Amino acid sequence: MRRGWMLVLVALILAILLAACGGEGSSPDNAAVTRGQQLFSTGGASGIPCTTCHTLDGSPLVGPSLQGVGTRAGERIDGLSASDYLHESIVSPSSYLVAGYSDLMPKTFGEVLSPDEINDLVAYLLTLQ
Ligand code: HEC
Repeated sequence: MRRGWMLVLVALILAILLAACGGEGSSPDNAAVTRGQQLFSTGGASGIPCTTCHTLDGSPLVGPSLQGVGTRAGERIDGLSASDYLHESIVSPSSYLVAGYSDLMPKTFGEVLSPDEINDLVAYLLTLQ
């Protein structure tokens, strides 16, 4: 009986440890998200803040609000993951136009921002649930 409880306890501890590790592995890289958030509001070297055209509160501006974009990004284009879609939306904005909006997003972010900066922006956008 005692031994049985010990085993249950060990199993429980293992389960908790595994859950904790799994959680860490799948959580977004916080430093990247913070850098992405800054880029979003400053535009970095492009000098064009994303906030010029995108709100986060659901109201449209020049572009669609990015509220919840992390959730819908994976459903925009068949076969494109959320992060691939967001990446493409930034470096090649004309590839997919959001219905009801014109092709007005600057095409230069992919040249002016570094690949790391684009990844940071994507990491940030993925947190917008
Ligand atoms: C001059 C205005 C403008 C700026 C600045 C701008 N965008 Fe956009 N963006 C748009 C417009 C218009 C659309 C909708 C048309 C399209 O899909 O390209 C759009 C679409 C998007 C989409 C697709 C949204 C969806 O719901 O599928 C993403 C993601 C996005 N922009 C991210 C960004 C990021 C990140 C930045 C800053 C690096 C940025 N935009 C800067 C105008 C802008």
